[in-house]
Amino acid sequence: MKTVYLETFGCQMNELDSELVRGHLESIGYGFTTEPGDAQILLFNTCSVREHAESKAYSRLGIVGKRKKAGEDLVLGVLGCMAERDGVDMLRRYPQVDLLCGPGELDKLPMLIDNVARTSTFADDEASEAGRVALAGNTSRRSAALSATKDDLETLDLARAFDPDRATSAARSAYVRITRGCNKFCTYCVVPYTRGAEVHRPPDSIVEECRRLANAGVIEVTLLGQTVNHYRYHHGVAVTIDGRESPQIGPGLKAFRNEPIDDAGVTTFAGLLARIHDEVPELARIRFLTSYPRDFGDDVLEVMASRPRICRYLHVPAQSGSNRILKLMNRGYTVEEYLEFTDRVLRHLPDASIAGDIIVGFPTETDEDFEATKDLLRRVPFKNNFIFKYSPRPGTTAIDRFEDDVPEAVKKLRNNELLALQAEIGAAAHADWIGREVDVLVERKTNYHRRTSVPRSSADERVSLGSGITAKRDAGGDAGPDPVQISGRTKGDLITVFDVADDATADAMIGGIARVKVNGSGPLLLRGTLLEPAESPMNYR
Ligand code: 5AD
Ligand code: SF4
Repeated sequence: MKTVYLETFGCQMNELDSELVRGHLESIGYGFTTEPGDAQILLFNTCSVREHAESKAYSRLGIVGKRKKAGEDLVLGVLGCMAERDGVDMLRRYPQVDLLCGPGELDKLPMLIDNVARTSTFADDEASEAGRVALAGNTSRRSAALSATKDDLETLDLARAFDPDRATSAARSAYVRITRGCNKFCTYCVVPYTRGAEVHRPPDSIVEECRRLANAGVIEVTLLGQTVNHYRYHHGVAVTIDGRESPQIGPGLKAFRNEPIDDAGVTTFAGLLARIHDEVPELARIRFLTSYPRDFGDDVLEVMASRPRICRYLHVPAQSGSNRILKLMNRGYTVEEYLEFTDRVLRHLPDASIAGDIIVGFPTETDEDFEATKDLLRRVPFKNNFIFKYSPRPGTTAIDRFEDDVPEAVKKLRNNELLALQAEIGAAAHADWIGREVDVLVERKTNYHRRTSVPRSSADERVSLGSGITAKRDAGGDAGPDPVQISGRTKGDLITVFDVADDATADAMIGGIARVKVNGSGPLLLRGTLLEPAESPMNYR
């Protein structure tokens, strides 16, 4: 059986897709390698959100093309958003590409690989494309949405075989999709075209997936969707022949404008969070990404406040601090509304961390607009902001409607200026935690040791790690091995680093929750000392 190399570009949604693809292929006998040179099947799960991600993928295609020209017998597949966006055109421009599979069609991938492997040469005609191309077709979002609601893709999510030893961080953490696609049509964004209409999974399927993951040893799930708080599932509307509810198309922004909605027979995002929290008590942490700043009701905040295992973390991209630019972006809210929302979050959840995304250099952005964005950053205690330079994307409204008129040099300056400002704001947000105790989900050993940066107690005592394992606490002095630094995240998603005595101790703690006293901080992290290592997650019920 041939060996597969699978590389992922872009967002968490793609990471999850890749994990599902890998599980599916493994279950039918494919092996995987992390070395492209050892593989006969090379798959790139691509991202189209910014040009930069696409360029990286194209350069990979070039390398594989050279190997093929040199006579190697390889199968090259492009998966994800670039496949969907470029369509069969990509097969003509990059003849080394054997197969294309859009993000909504990944259940068909084994069939495509099989077809390609059995038919070594393809005539360059449309008929031959049929067996090696699976795309929703960006000409019709309606058909894309309908095909996405078919059970096949749902089966891929539900059939996942989670292997905790191979999870992205060995921290027994997994992604769970709650919605696919997006109905918001921000003018700069390609997602509504590549991932299609917003489709909501039935809550029973989501809870079932969480339960299976918990049974496999997962203690943290991250619920994924482009705009998770717009999750709404109407019961009794879409039912399959065997009586199960099937995924259904979500409403656009208009539906939210016509509030109030009769919630009878509906599972809202708040309801879904509560169900997962209450019905899967083995999960120590429940997180979600990404929230839309509009329509985030108090109901969600109340569910979060009353349920301790839901993380105090919101990723809610503001994108800009200028009302004029927000309007051109079609974001559907004003800066004042964004601030009303973040104030409300902090009133309900004073410990919450807020993170976001900002785009600089959107068409027509003036110095004044940019100043307004800086003001917004100063007014919210953001723990982090991902800052992007506007990248015109083919197929979007913005590229048709507006000239990309902010020079690259100005975009770069604004990008750097915001990074510096965010570093200050992030430093203040993190410094707030000094002196407090936090629960850290331990994720990994870091590869940099900071012997001197973390004040260590001189106590050389052994503490229990739970299941009978003991460890040296903060062994000081010159004797013995160097301490090992490990890192994890708090319930507010703040990265926290601390030292433990040695490698074995570190390894035993990964995937557990440790209590840490914070005694230092930086713009992006907390530093601390270990108080109690890796308590059993059961304590967080
Ligand atoms: N140019 C720059 N940034 C973009 N994003 C989405 N589309 C673009 C684009 N065309 C950013 C947004 C979004 C994040 C995932 O990527 O900030 O929240
Ligand atoms: Fe893109 Fe806007 Fe949808 Fe986010 S909400 S995926 S930025 S269209």
